[in-house]
Amino acid sequence: MTDRELINTAREAMKNAYVPYSRLPVGAALECEDGVVVTGCNVENAAFGSSVCAEQTAVCKAVSSGRRRFRRIAIVANSKNYYYPCGNCRQFLNEFAPNIEILSVRGDGRYVSYRLSDLYPKPYISELNL
Ligand code: THU
Repeated sequence: MTDRELINTAREAMKNAYVPYSRLPVGAALECEDGVVVTGCNVENAAFGSSVCAEQTAVCKAVSSGRRRFRRIAIVANSKNYYYPCGNCRQFLNEFAPNIEILSVRGDGRYVSYRLSDLYPKPYISELNL
């Protein structure tokens, strides 16, 4: 899948965002290592802190369908600036794919691409012996 196709998939997913509080729909398209693309959108809650970001939705859908290895993720919002994942989402993505390629997209469709390791160079890493 091309970058543009992945971005368009994220834009489609954005339409399903449940955002009665922020009115800021976000869409994500996560390309897994087996080529399957899993989408996500933000799902807000009356208890604001219980809201879930688009990237997290996509990661949870992928992991719960047995996929833990990811190549790229496109993140789209109707924003003036490139849409970067929040700190929580960077940590969440880091759990499974510290080097994932992130396509950060603006409302007008322009995008930039980064590695998560560049955006989030010092992740929290558990020292628990699980
Ligand atoms: N949001 C995301 O979906 N992804 C991010 O990386 C940051 C923020 C959502 C959460 C909330 O529904 C809305 O954007 C406004 O913060």
